[in-house]
Amino acid sequence: MGYREFLNTIDKSIDKIREFIDKGKNFNVFCHIDADGLSSGAITSVMLLRANTRFITRSVRNIEEIIEAIPNLPPDSIIILTDIGSGYLNILREKFREKSLIILDHHQPDGEVEEGWIHINPHLYNIDGAREISSSGVAYLVAKALSEENVTLSPIAVVGALGDLQDKSSEKRELDGLNKMIVEDAVKAGLIKVSDDLLFYGRSYRPLHLALASTTSPYIPTISGSEAHAVSFLNSLKIKLKEDDRWRVFAELDEEEKKTIYNGLMKYLSSINFPPSIVKELVGKVYELTKEEDWTPLKDAREFSSLLNACGKTGNEWIGIAVAMGSRGELLLQAQKILEEYRKKLSEIMEYLVKRDTWQELKYIIAIDVGTAIDDRMVSSASSILSSSELLPEDKPLIMLATRDDKVKVSARASRKLVAKGLNLGFVMKKAAERTGGVGGGHDVAAGAEIPLGKKTMFLAEADSIVGEFLKS
Ligand code: C5P
Repeated sequence: MGYREFLNTIDKSIDKIREFIDKGKNFNVFCHIDADGLSSGAITSVMLLRANTRFITRSVRNIEEIIEAIPNLPPDSIIILTDIGSGYLNILREKFREKSLIILDHHQPDGEVEEGWIHINPHLYNIDGAREISSSGVAYLVAKALSEENVTLSPIAVVGALGDLQDKSSEKRELDGLNKMIVEDAVKAGLIKVSDDLLFYGRSYRPLHLALASTTSPYIPTISGSEAHAVSFLNSLKIKLKEDDRWRVFAELDEEEKKTIYNGLMKYLSSINFPPSIVKELVGKVYELTKEEDWTPLKDAREFSSLLNACGKTGNEWIGIAVAMGSRGELLLQAQKILEEYRKKLSEIMEYLVKRDTWQELKYIIAIDVGTAIDDRMVSSASSILSSSELLPEDKPLIMLATRDDKVKVSARASRKLVAKGLNLGFVMKKAAERTGGVGGGHDVAAGAEIPLGKKTMFLAEADSIVGEFLKS
């Protein structure tokens, strides 16, 4: 089992997809709302557009929205799920046995698919869907197998993988595995340039203080999200922001200046009791989209994914999908505004969270219940930032909860160390949610759930005990 088998399966599935297209079938695409979800939805949409099919694409927060929507679709439409579905095969099978489903996903599968359905998931071939390929990568490989012209979509697959932080397990923040193959496609097609540098957003075209302020991974308290603080920080290090009348950019700094900023950030972090080592995350591979205009957030693949994430988490999913499909102009301007506002909001949320008022340490987990203080769609970004900021103990996973109406959204993150010890958060979320009347799943390092409001305490107790079972064994 491995890459070859996975790619063969894709090739085989293509005949069936082509048959649906040739028969003039209607397609309904459902994609998840995060950056990888919107990217995979956009890739699938462009594939269907280029194949001259009729299709509708919509984004969903969770599996429940899909379960509600499918009965209202035309009976013979082909349903494509991207970045969602594999974790809920039993439910889908039970309810929609007679429908035609195509699932392009990278979450840990649970159950079997109905005969005749297409299920493309790397885990079925022992390929790690949390690190080696994302749903956008899966959708890209399908699109490319259908038509070579879809190689133009390779940068969006890279954007999706970075959105799901698939570069995080590598020391050098580099995409590996099948993701690396996709990067190579993009490089060969002249669409992406890869280099080693400090990973400030817009390092080759954005003024230093803007590049510093717009970088949120790693999160640098008060500087991430604030241009004014970024300016005073750089001034304090005596870094010249301008050369004559022109703003300087990170790419033109000499090694000495880069070191000064790197060390300055370490010093600053320790002065505010943050672990200085998180600065290490700032060094690695930069993925630049060569055809994008300078000065836009689309130039840097990581920032492109932040823009999609911002659209997805603020009810502007369609703008994100349209931009990922290639729309620019007015829509891109709107998306940029959304990104700016999202960054501000996220930095306020982080300031609130790092005060630790909401943290609760249980025997095996750290629980943070924000109630309705934070939009439930923002907890996943906040939990990712928190878990990579080294503020949490490495030996306890983070479980964050936010309430919306009568539901609780759960977002869980574990350190690589815990995963190496055998912890699988996808399993923890699934079991704890099942026992409390909700649904859950995901990956070993990052997972989530939705549970009824009255079941919070019970859910946390279950999660604590299941994590304990993993770590004791
Ligand atoms: O929402 P959040 O980013 O915390 O979710 C982490 C991972 O868990 C995502 O990949 C998401 O798709 C997955 N998840 C899931 N089932 C849920 C909630 C989240 O598979 N009910």
